[in-house]
Amino acid sequence: MVRVLFVCLGNICRSPTAEGVFRDLVRREGLQATIKSDSCGTSDWHIGDPPDARATAEALRRGIRIDDLKARQISTADFADFDYVLGMDNQNINKLTALCPQAYLSKVQLFLDFAPEVNLREVPDPYYGGDDGFSNVFDMIEAASNGLLADIRKYHIDV
Ligand code: 4NP
Repeated sequence: MVRVLFVCLGNICRSPTAEGVFRDLVRREGLQATIKSDSCGTSDWHIGDPPDARATAEALRRGIRIDDLKARQISTADFADFDYVLGMDNQNINKLTALCPQAYLSKVQLFLDFAPEVNLREVPDPYYGGDDGFSNVFDMIEAASNGLLADIRKYHIDV
């Protein structure tokens, strides 16, 4: 089993979108018994909340449902439990590396580094912007999800 954790600040915009997009990809590839994913926030601000309505609407527009997801906060146990701990931006990465036990630091990576074709390393925070921010974010997340699956196939599963 390969386990992936997507992390942002609030766990209501970027990381639940990433979880939904990647979960859909994994299901379409028939790998749901092999790859598990989850998401969380570095903050405790939205614990128990569903994704932001704008994120849910953008995902639905692309044929993906994320309305079943509920925000939670990162815990130190996550670094042992997951193989990939993927931050959306450098602020997330700084928080994660501060919390992460030394032995697991190599698991902490910027999610967009799996999409070198995207000319950004950080997924911009769409929370305070307009709806088009959510569409841009979705495109980046789709690209990085494909790159992430390719990485998992290369290093973890021979399929
Ligand atoms: P996310 O976006 O980190 O992508 O979930 C945010 C959600 C909430 C807040 C900031 C960013 N907030 O300030 O409550």
